[in-house]
Amino acid sequence: MVRYLLAAGFSVLALTSVASAQDAAAGKATFRQCMACHVVDQEQNRVGPHLVGIVGRPVASIEGFNYSDAMRAYSEDGAKVWDDATLATYLADPRGVVQGTRMAFAGVKDEAALANLIAYLSDPAAAE
Ligand code: HEC
Repeated sequence: MVRYLLAAGFSVLALTSVASAQDAAAGKATFRQCMACHVVDQEQNRVGPHLVGIVGRPVASIEGFNYSDAMRAYSEDGAKVWDDATLATYLADPRGVVQGTRMAFAGVKDEAALANLIAYLSDPAAAE
């Protein structure tokens, strides 16, 4: 059910390929849940890797960040890229999707909040 809802939500997101500033602003509010561990506006790792350019970035690709074995395996040796779909799946249920991830976060369960969050991550400046 959750999977179906996500798929439906994200085909809608794909249709509106340019995220609106409104979506990004709403997503910025949701990003507060991530800020204990991540920054998105500078290339600085905290508990988690920085998220600059995360949409379109290969999984587990920040040099010098000590990813878990689970996240390295999920990266398929650099073949897998974070896009709207992979981010939506992962962020809804991090520990279910990448079993053994060190990211201690339950997930964003609300479909609209998740879509807005990804809009924000793809273009943080749009939320200013
Ligand atoms: C408690 C700290 C914490 C919180 C809160 C957290 N993360 Fe993470 N995140 C991490 C850690 C640690 C990793 C590395 C995971 C691993 O190696 O298994 C990570 C990895 C990631 C990755 C993969 C990055 C890469 O380079 O492949 C993404 C994307 C991500 N987090 C997004 C988010 C978002 C968006 C939120 C908020 C909704 C969030 N995280 C909340 C700690 C956190």
